[in-house]
Amino acid sequence: MLTVEALTSGYGQGQVLHEAAMELPPGKAVAVLGRNGVGKTTFVHTLMGLVKPWSGSIRLGDDELAGLDTRQIARHGVRIVPQGRRVYRSLTVEETLAISSGPGEWTIERVYELFPSLAARRGHRGDQLSGGEQEMLAIGRALLGNPRLLLLDEPSEGLAPLVVEELGRALSSLEGMSIILVEQNLHLAVAVADEVRCMVKGSFVYQATTAEFRRDPAAAKEYLGVGS
Ligand SMILES: Nc1ncnc2c1ncn2[C@@H]1O[C@H](COP(=O)(O)OP(=O)(O)OP(=O)(O)O)[C@@H](O)[C@H]1O
Ligand SMILES: [Mg+2]
Repeated sequence: MLTVEALTSGYGQGQVLHEAAMELPPGKAVAVLGRNGVGKTTFVHTLMGLVKPWSGSIRLGDDELAGLDTRQIARHGVRIVPQGRRVYRSLTVEETLAISSGPGEWTIERVYELFPSLAARRGHRGDQLSGGEQEMLAIGRALLGNPRLLLLDEPSEGLAPLVVEELGRALSSLEGMSIILVEQNLHLAVAVADEVRCMVKGSFVYQATTAEFRRDPAAAKEYLGVGS
């Protein structure tokens, strides 16, 4: 179980997270939705220790993560797939996966089974991949760390609908992994997530199961500005 309480953080004097609070039951996927600039990336970066928490608590199981640095947080089994992918441009798919793999149940072959189109590109360099392939590589790299908690920051950004569908199928198949999925693409969010949280100005102001959220078009309109 991940329990985040009264989490605040920001940049310099500028506060972005305002007492953000959420719970993530073990093995569940939660979508974090919200408009541009509300603080979604800051939230997952604060969980990962890339942005220092100012106050509040981040408990994963029995462990307090707030105040630890990113490497220590990674040792507790947290991995992030960053917004914009940031794959190594000059390494091949196979090389990137090889340097990311360690002991655990995730192997390079298992990543290729999850993303067959990545297997077909195993000899290609990062900068020769499409956006979708780069996203798959970034996810594969994170999975090879055998995460207890996987943070995904807008994996669908800039990708064609068919590729987003393929990502959705792959992420939905990761049963039993705790996932926080930051998204502005509602189709992907509801396909993958068990529950939904909406963020406004650095706080979570709405929570529902995905089934409830599907029956609540007013929430999507209010928190995302979309009509469907
Ligand atoms: N490195 C930074 N330094 C200073 N301010 C930042 C930095 N990163 C983000 N901000 C500011 O913090 C606020 C929240 O940004 P954040 O990137 O967390 O939002 P977001 O919800 O992820 O947005 P998007 O949907 O565009 O990805 C914004 O006002 C942004 O300008
Ligand atoms: Mg963002």
